[in-house]
Amino acid sequence: MKFFIDTANISQIKEANDLGILDGVTTNPSLMAKEGIKGEENILKHYVAICNLVGKNVSAEVISTDFEGMITEGKKLAALHPAIVVKVPMIKDGIKALKWFSDNGIKTNCTLVFSAGQAIMAAKAGANYVSPFIGRIDDASWDGVQLIEQIVHIYGNYGYKTEVLAASIRNPLHIVRCAEAGADVCTCPLDSILGLLKHPLTDIGLEKFLADHKKGQQ
Ligand code: G3P
Repeated sequence: MKFFIDTANISQIKEANDLGILDGVTTNPSLMAKEGIKGEENILKHYVAICNLVGKNVSAEVISTDFEGMITEGKKLAALHPAIVVKVPMIKDGIKALKWFSDNGIKTNCTLVFSAGQAIMAAKAGANYVSPFIGRIDDASWDGVQLIEQIVHIYGNYGYKTEVLAASIRNPLHIVRCAEAGADVCTCPLDSILGLLKHPLTDIGLEKFLADHKKGQQ
């Protein structure tokens, strides 16, 4: 399973990248705003900075909601760096745009996916990634991981090439459950990635090893 980090924060991206296990980055307009990045020029520069840092799979979202606007924006984003993946919302014009980008060799990530039906449409349109938002589904008292299982199953039935990118991850257990469900990618906050490392028995065991080593040296 690939690991993406879901943030526009450069120091968090750097910290995850330095672990050597990072496969990409996802951003969205809310995450960009959280970092205080405003204005087209600054936003484009920020995407380039992220691409230069990570070198692959950087999702950059279009703001337009009409076909022509999405194509214009997507072409501009894709021209920034070969690592750019154009993020397109799951709406009617988004499907048309995904198909156009697919026919024209521009990589895409279909975002704001909350049902298997939407995931089928994204795959039919040739999206490279489909992003079901599992945390937001859980927040609404449904089961986000169950949706991942359903999409993985359906894509397997037909050999769709679209990769299932579990998004809106809230905790380390989400990552483990998505891995069990066969997600191709998880995009996670840094805390959830680092949370995977934690186990009290590791800490207790290491403390004992180091103490025993010290005793042996006396
Ligand atoms: O990148 C999109 C997605 O991960 C959003 O997550 O936490 O805002 O539901 P969240």
